[in-house]
Amino acid sequence: MAADATGSRAGPPSLLILGAGGAAREIAGFASECVEPYRPVAFVVADDEPTAGTRLADLPVLSLSDAQARFPAAAAVIAIGSAAIRRRLAQDLDRAGLGAATLVHRSVVRGPRVAIGLGTILAPGTVISCDVAIGRHAYVNLGCTISHDSVLEDFVTLAPGVSVPGSVHIESGTFVGVGVSFVHGRPDKALRIGRDATVGAGACVTADVAPATTVVGVPARPIAD
Ligand SMILES: CC(C)(COP(=O)(O)OP(=O)(O)OC[C@H]1O[C@@H](n2cnc3c(N)ncnc32)[C@H](O)[C@@H]1OP(=O)(O)O)[C@@H](O)C(=O)NCCC(=O)NCCS
Repeated sequence: MAADATGSRAGPPSLLILGAGGAAREIAGFASECVEPYRPVAFVVADDEPTAGTRLADLPVLSLSDAQARFPAAAAVIAIGSAAIRRRLAQDLDRAGLGAATLVHRSVVRGPRVAIGLGTILAPGTVISCDVAIGRHAYVNLGCTISHDSVLEDFVTLAPGVSVPGSVHIESGTFVGVGVSFVHGRPDKALRIGRDATVGAGACVTADVAPATTVVGVPARPIAD
């Protein structure tokens, strides 16, 4: 490990992981293997969460105020599946003055002109071809593919194994379940998945999806109320 200008040994910056579920443990597991590596130092939960003060996967579980007091220089990443909670936590991070870490696993293949927003997580095994824009605090899970001219807005979640072909536009907060595929959009008219929609596991989306709608099946249709 290299010594910095002050003579102390520099290592990866410390990382607070907001959440304490499966996603949080997975992200803690690969944070040190990212293009910009981080050293996870704690999981962070709400002050009234009974797990605060316990340990998980060899790390302390702390409230945000305790975590900031113990690790004042740490960055943070939001490791929670719900877009609504991610939106709120992103505001909490801004208010607390905590920097957001962007985690791109080093196995991720990125072609040219791929933009990735602050706080976004790209898990191992994802392939992104070219001319793709991904917003802030998005979460692209294990083994997804994202092709040319597609857009994932802020707080979008792709579960493992999602295939996004060319010219698909997924609006803010949408959740895409495991193994979902989409048909290709057109260069002059992207296939559009509306804000805060949910696409059920295993679906194939062949047409635009209205905002805040849940679709399932092949071809994907709105779920019956
Ligand atoms: C779509 C989804 C959000 C619906 O959840 P829900 O609102 O709780 O719906 P329910 O489980 O009550 O199911 C309602 C109906 O939809 C059907 N359904 C649910 N999910 C479905 C899916 N993915 N594909 C096809 N049909 C589905 C159910 O069989 C049920 O049908 P019925 O009314 O004829 O019995 C959920 O099933 C899903 O697919 N979530 C994604 C899970 C995932 O990928 N997680 C990844 C974690 S990393």
